[in-house]
Amino acid sequence: MSGYRSDQELLGRSGVNDVEAILAVVNRETGPESHVPSEIDTLFTWDYTKGARPKLARLYERAKGAQWNGETDLPWDTEIDQEKVVAANRANLVTSGVNEGMDLTGTPFASWGEKEWIRYGCESQNWTLSQFLHGEQGALLCTARIVENVPWIDAKYFAATQVLDEARHVEVFSKYLDKLSGHYPINAHLKLLLDDVISDSRWDLTYLGMQIMVEGLALAAFGFIHQMTTEPLLKQLLRYVMSDEARHVAFGVVTLEEYYHQLTAAELRDRQEFAFEAAVRMRDRFLQQEVWERLGVDVREAVTLVQQSGERRAFQSMLFSKIVPNCKKLGLLDAGDGWLRDRFAEIGVLQFEDWPATEEEVAMLELAEKGGGDRVA
Ligand SMILES: [Fe+2]
Ligand SMILES: [Fe+2]
Repeated sequence: MSGYRSDQELLGRSGVNDVEAILAVVNRETGPESHVPSEIDTLFTWDYTKGARPKLARLYERAKGAQWNGETDLPWDTEIDQEKVVAANRANLVTSGVNEGMDLTGTPFASWGEKEWIRYGCESQNWTLSQFLHGEQGALLCTARIVENVPWIDAKYFAATQVLDEARHVEVFSKYLDKLSGHYPINAHLKLLLDDVISDSRWDLTYLGMQIMVEGLALAAFGFIHQMTTEPLLKQLLRYVMSDEARHVAFGVVTLEEYYHQLTAAELRDRQEFAFEAAVRMRDRFLQQEVWERLGVDVREAVTLVQQSGERRAFQSMLFSKIVPNCKKLGLLDAGDGWLRDRFAEIGVLQFEDWPATEEEVAMLELAEKGGGDRVA
């Protein structure tokens, strides 16, 4: 993965996850747009046989029946007092990694009282939802690319529905953020990851990077916040978005499962390395750097403290609860000599390997719906 290698060069191989190396990468783009060069083949197919891949065809039919309108299906007139919500959720702010349970003596947080923690909680939420927003735009662009370069008509059909889904996600996260107290620009490490995923010329790596890794992580994170938040508009928004995301991850699993059966051990090893690097980048480098900066706290000290937090580590590994079973389903965990299994064991996320893969979750959902269950996950 060429982008990853350049990122490695940038950070220096040995210190790739050192705090200093991580903080050295900053977003210097200031313009209203960001240009990502790439050379991608666009692929026409002349085989229009619909349903040649029944699982993909089922997902496509399901997607057509599960559309919702971001403008009219959510209660946008809900009043949000963000500080009040943050205060009510204080006990649930485990994503922050800093909390009063830690020994903060001698740290920049030693003098913080309720007011500062609430301000931090608001900024932390603004940052997190802003990164979701930028990630959703990444998904929108990646899926548009998949429509172009995936060879199968059933996959092109489904990917086209996902383009609309992602447009809706960008729309609703942006609109929700406008009701809060500020946006954040994209985190530099997230931008590098998205650039790598979208500029790789191998179509399956766009899938692997976006559908399996980024969306797998997002699905776990949305699920966590959906469970924790007491704010009804966000809860409903996430519930709708998650029902779409489960389909998207399942789309990635179904497509790649077939394709990866045809690859050589060397080609699979390439995919294993790609998946692992994406995992490490998402786990270790999204550290709310910009929040600390905005709050005037020493970023190095704050980030170092956050990394020591057991809660933070538990949250980070929970983010892999979808990624690991899906990699297993794709055969990536055990391909070759089980290289990826060993790496996932090293970073402590292997306990999720037997959790349900997303494709199975979507199938269960379909069954529940046939029995008269709810439309949304
Ligand atoms: Fe999305
Ligand atoms: Fe998605």
